[in-house]
Amino acid sequence: MPPAINIEELRRQARRRLPRVVFDYIDGGAEDEVTLRRNREAFEAISFRPRVLTGGEVDTTTTVFGEKLALPLIIAPTGLNGLLWHQGDLCLARAAAQAGAGFALSTASNLSLEEIARQTNEAKWFQLYPWGKPEFAARLLDRAYDSGYRTAIVTVDSLVAGNRERDKRHGFAHHIRWSPRIVMDGLTHPRWLTSIWMRTGVPRLENLAAFLEAGATAAEMAEYTRSQRNPSFDWSDLQRIRDHWNGNLILKGVLASEDAQRALSIGIDGLVVSNHGGRQLDGAMTTMEALPAIVDAVGDRMTVMVDSGFRRGSDVVKALALGAKAVLIGRTMLYGLAASGQPGANQALSILSEEIHRTMRLLGCRTIAEISRDHLQIG
Ligand code: FNR
Repeated sequence: MPPAINIEELRRQARRRLPRVVFDYIDGGAEDEVTLRRNREAFEAISFRPRVLTGGEVDTTTTVFGEKLALPLIIAPTGLNGLLWHQGDLCLARAAAQAGAGFALSTASNLSLEEIARQTNEAKWFQLYPWGKPEFAARLLDRAYDSGYRTAIVTVDSLVAGNRERDKRHGFAHHIRWSPRIVMDGLTHPRWLTSIWMRTGVPRLENLAAFLEAGATAAEMAEYTRSQRNPSFDWSDLQRIRDHWNGNLILKGVLASEDAQRALSIGIDGLVVSNHGGRQLDGAMTTMEALPAIVDAVGDRMTVMVDSGFRRGSDVVKALALGAKAVLIGRTMLYGLAASGQPGANQALSILSEEIHRTMRLLGCRTIAEISRDHLQIG
């Protein structure tokens, strides 16, 4: 297979290798997928206003929470990476380390947070879904801290499950249910079947093993996540987490500047401006629409980051110009991982890196700090 020249080509390779049920799980959005589509269109509505003859080499390094990154990118927390590639979480963590990007591990990972900490030396972030009783969060955060994680992300745009109709059609809910159609789907994708299913079976949500009886199956763990959702989680619960966690705390899934200000007022250190990649509230505004007001409200007092829809290095540069400190990338990495494991994940990052370098050079910016709103024409 010739190497992909852009992320869309990695996506096509992923679609060929994965059964439809798994591809739709990563690729799909909520309901009519309006937000999913608009996430991409939002970048098209922003034009660059380049400056010329600025000379010099391009330097993409930046610092986030005291951590030096070679690229202003963090791999977004995504659940069930083990469905895409054997030990998918580890492949992504290693790809991030090699490229000098950050990495966030999901609560719904298929390797435990302890295992990832054992296998990689670089600083990593842990993402918490505030499921169940307060003890659930406290126990997971303690485990993360004891394992060396010093930055935690609390995701708050998914207190109820998004209405993902592609998943409903396949009967998929954190877990593959083997109907005759899904069996055929698997059998017609033998590369996936032999590398995942015949090797490990359905991967389990390993972080949850400690909360269930020994030997719990993947299906029981998926059922546990469904039963533990806590829609009444509110600001006072978040305050409790703030009081409990000694490291940097990031709130993920914020779109309104009022919420950004409230987060600041209770001591939250950072934000991920996010609509969950269009997978939760369909019709939610795009993050390119939301970002400027949030940066204006809190940008000099919090680390404001962003995600949702980033597929090109130029998208990343536009977000930095609007004031984001770094960008989280979700599906872009999953397409690479699903296409060919860690080499595919490396490739996704190298495509973005090359595109960021070229865009900065053409825009006349030598450093991340030089990229500003003056380099954009919006509307
Ligand atoms: C996600 N996302 C997510 N977020 C989170 O906080 N915890 C999680 O476990 C997951 N799981 C997950 C699985 C899959 C398959 C996807 C595509 C996304 C959301 C993710 O962190 C990020 O916000 C979006 O992926 C960003 O949008 P793009 O880059 O995928 O367009």
